[in-house]
Amino acid sequence: MARIRIQDENREISDPQEICEFLKPFGIWYENWDVDGRIGAEATNEEILTAYAPEIDRLSKAGGFVTADVINVSPATPNLDTMLAKFAKEHTHTEDEVRFTVRGSGVFHIHPKNGPVFAIQVESGDLINVPRGTQHWFDLCEDKTIRCIRLFQDTSGWAPHYVEGGVHEKYSPVCLGPAYLKTVAFEPVVKV
Ligand SMILES: [Fe+2]
Repeated sequence: MARIRIQDENREISDPQEICEFLKPFGIWYENWDVDGRIGAEATNEEILTAYAPEIDRLSKAGGFVTADVINVSPATPNLDTMLAKFAKEHTHTEDEVRFTVRGSGVFHIHPKNGPVFAIQVESGDLINVPRGTQHWFDLCEDKTIRCIRLFQDTSGWAPHYVEGGVHEKYSPVCLGPAYLKTVAFEPVVKV
């Protein structure tokens, strides 16, 4: 289930309904799809697209998407760090970035025109869109693993347009969980 973190306000949102309401003013839609038992651990890309065909068809009709594919990223991916560095710099696209996470996890940071930067952490079952023109960047979680269905209106629209002086370096790319807790400074407890 997705989580939202607003670092500048030291605030988190984990309730799905609250997440939808928080994201709506930014034109971002969020859905959580049922994933239990729908694909095997070794499913091929084609099997994944077939398993989620009903949802893909629904979105395609609603959003004019003409292409769907599956992206696999893992520590074994060639030139992984170079690829991740491209995702992790603030950028925009000329079409929506629509991602359904089948396996793994990652964190999108969104930099809206009006409002604080916020992070959306996604994992298996989470679908989000990043609307065209929205400044954003993406990092994988610690295990550097994600398998996503991507939907396109025009695949050429996915090319990133980098933002000069991007603010991505000011925000922690660390996903929530044990590694994130290590980065949070706790006040020492003084016993009297
Ligand atoms: Fe992007």
